[in-house]
Amino acid sequence: MDDAGVDGRPRDPSLAAADATDPPSGFREQAAASDADVYEAFAAEGPEAWRRAADLLDWETEYETVLDDSDPPFYKWFPGGRLNASVNCVDRHLDERRNQLAIRWFGKRGERRSYTYLDLHREVNALAAGLRDLGVEEDDVVTLYLPMVPELPISMLACARIGAPHNVVFAGLSAEALATRLDAADSSYLVTCDGYYRREDAFNQKSKADNARLRADVDLAATVVVDRLGDALDVSLGADEHGYESLVDAHDGEMVEPVARDATDLLFVMYTSGTTGRPKGVEHATGGYLSHVAWTTQNVLDVRPDDTYWCAADIGWITGHSYGVYGPLSVGTTTILYEGSPDYPDRDRVWDLIERNAVSVFYTSPTAIRSFMKWGAEYPDRHDLSSIRLLGTVGESITPKVWHWYREHVGGGEAPVVDTWWQTETGAIALATLPGIAPMKPGKAGPPLPGIDATVVDEDGEPVEPGEPGYLTIGAPWPGMLRGLREGDERYRREYWVEAEDGWRYRTGDGATVDDDGYITILGRVDDVINVRAHRFTTGELESAIVGVEGVTEAAVVGTEDGDIVAYVTTRSDVEPDESVRAAICEELATAVGEMARADRIVFTPDLPKTRSGKIMRRLLEDITRGEEFGDVSSLRNPEVVGEIESSVRDV
Ligand code: WTA
Repeated sequence: MDDAGVDGRPRDPSLAAADATDPPSGFREQAAASDADVYEAFAAEGPEAWRRAADLLDWETEYETVLDDSDPPFYKWFPGGRLNASVNCVDRHLDERRNQLAIRWFGKRGERRSYTYLDLHREVNALAAGLRDLGVEEDDVVTLYLPMVPELPISMLACARIGAPHNVVFAGLSAEALATRLDAADSSYLVTCDGYYRREDAFNQKSKADNARLRADVDLAATVVVDRLGDALDVSLGADEHGYESLVDAHDGEMVEPVARDATDLLFVMYTSGTTGRPKGVEHATGGYLSHVAWTTQNVLDVRPDDTYWCAADIGWITGHSYGVYGPLSVGTTTILYEGSPDYPDRDRVWDLIERNAVSVFYTSPTAIRSFMKWGAEYPDRHDLSSIRLLGTVGESITPKVWHWYREHVGGGEAPVVDTWWQTETGAIALATLPGIAPMKPGKAGPPLPGIDATVVDEDGEPVEPGEPGYLTIGAPWPGMLRGLREGDERYRREYWVEAEDGWRYRTGDGATVDDDGYITILGRVDDVINVRAHRFTTGELESAIVGVEGVTEAAVVGTEDGDIVAYVTTRSDVEPDESVRAAICEELATAVGEMARADRIVFTPDLPKTRSGKIMRRLLEDITRGEEFGDVSSLRNPEVVGEIESSVRDV
C-alpha cells in the first residue's frame, strides 16, 4: 500500500470514522487477526509480508523468493517452492485430527454423509490411484461436472494429488457449455454423475454429458460416473466409462505418493465470463493461490479447526473452490456441504442446519440473504442461532438494509458481518474489513486487505478524490492472482493489465468509489459482464444465444438489482413477437448456457438505442430497466426509441 493516503486513504483502517461499527469486543479478543499493526507491517515489508500466508502451508521444498516480478505482468509467487495441495488439505491434518469431521454432507433427500480427515484421506488416495489407472498423468486436465456431492471436492483433491489440474464446470451449465469447456481446456477426462434431484425430480446429468461428448472436438479417453441417484435413474456405461464406486473400491487402501508441484504449476483452471462471448480459462497456480486462500480463511473469515463452517456457494464457481474446499480444508476445519435448496422442505432449512450443526461461521451471497429477508424473519427467529460467531457475504454489493437484517436475525445483533470483495481472477478475498480490527461500514466492501494495493482511478489512471466514481484497479501483484489465461499471454495482458507510469495495474472491471477512510464501495461492472443470482455472465454470450432464435435480429441483456435478467429483443418485420418467440428465447438460453440463464423478462422493441457509431447503449437500457434517471439522449442515432422502450418496460 505504498500510495496509501494519495486518494485520501489513511494507513490504518482501524481508525475509520464514526459512521462505522466497531468489531464487538468479545469477538476481537479471540480473533485470528486482532493486531492493527498488520497493516503497517504489510506496507513496510512489501511482497515479503506474504510469507505469513505461505507459512500456513506445508512445503515439500522451501521457496527461494517470495515474488519474482522481473517480467511484469507475468508474476511468479514463491518460485522454487514445491508443495502438494491435497497434502495441505488432508494429509497434514492426520496427526492432530484424523477423527475430526472434514466434510458433513446433506443431500437433497435428507441424506447425510460424514467424512473424517482419515476417511477423506482414504478416498482421495483411492480415487487418485483410480484416475492414474485410467491413464491420467501429471498436467492432464480433468473436467469435473458434478453437483454438490462429496465426490466433487474428493475429485478435486484426487486430481491435485497426482498433479492433474481440474476444470470444474458448474453442474447447471448446458451440454453445449460443457463441450466448449472440454475443448478449450483440451481435457480428455471427465468425472460426472448419473443425475441429481431437482426438487422432487430425478434429473439426468449423464445425458447432458453424453450430448457434450458428441459436440466436443476432443475425444474423451475416460469418463467416471458417480451413482448419485441409485435406482431412481438407470444409466448404462459405455466401454470407456467407469462407475466411481467400483473404481474407488478397486483401489481402496492404496496410497498414492503426492506429486510435489512447483508453486507456479497449475492447480486448476476455471472458466468464467469475460468481455467477449467465449468464456476465459482463468489459471490458478498452486502455491500463491493456496497461501492467499488459507490466509484469508483464517484472518478474514476467522475460521479455526474447531469451527463448523459453512460456505453456501456452489463449488462450480470460484467461491466454492476457494472457500468451500481449499480454504476450510487447508486450515483443518469441519465444513458443511449442502446439496439442497434453501427453501426445501421448508424456508427454514438453512437455519435448521445451522442450529443442528452449531455452525459458527456462515458465508453466503446477498442474493440469498435477500430471499431470506423476503421469506421473513420468523424463519431464522424460530431457531437457536447462537453458535454463529461471524457472517460473511460475497458476490455483489449488500445494501445497508440487507446487511442489518443479516446481522440482526442471523448474527444475533452481535456477530461481525464481513463484506468480501474479490473475483475469479483474484482467487481469494482482496477487499474486506479484518473483522477483529477494522470497523465495519454496511454497504461498503471495505478497505483493501493488508498487502493489496487497490486504488480507484480515473480514465487517466490518476487516483480519484473521495466520493468520486472511478475504476477499481490493483497496482501490485498478490499471491492469489491468476497465473494467466488458458487463451494465452497476449489475451491475459490485454484483458487485465495497463502499463502506467508507476508500473503495471490490474483492471478489475468494476466501478467504485472510495471514502475518506479508504473504504471502497463497489458500483458494479463497467464492462460487459453481469452478475445476477450469484452467477457471472457475459452479455455477449446471452445475446448471441438469443439472436440464434429464428426471427430475432438483435438483443441486449441487462441485469437488475433484484437479480433478474431482462432481455431487449428486436424481431424481423415479418415476425410477430409473441409468446412462441418468448418461449424459444428462454429455451435457447437454457440450451446454450444453462437453466439459470433463462430470461426473467423479455421486452420486444422495434429498435435498440444506439450511438451514432452503432454501438448498443446497454447502460441506458440498464437505467431504463431500473427506472432511474438518465441523461441527454439526443446524441443517439435513434433517440425516439427511448420513449417506446420505457413504455414497453412498464407493460411487461
Ligand atoms: C462482484 C465472485 C460488490 C464484482 C467471488 C466482481 C462484488 C465480480 C463483491 C466477480 C462484493 C464480488 N461487493 N460486488 N463484496 N464480490 N463482486 O468472478 O463485480 O464470480 O468483479 O467472483 O462480482 O465475480 P466472480
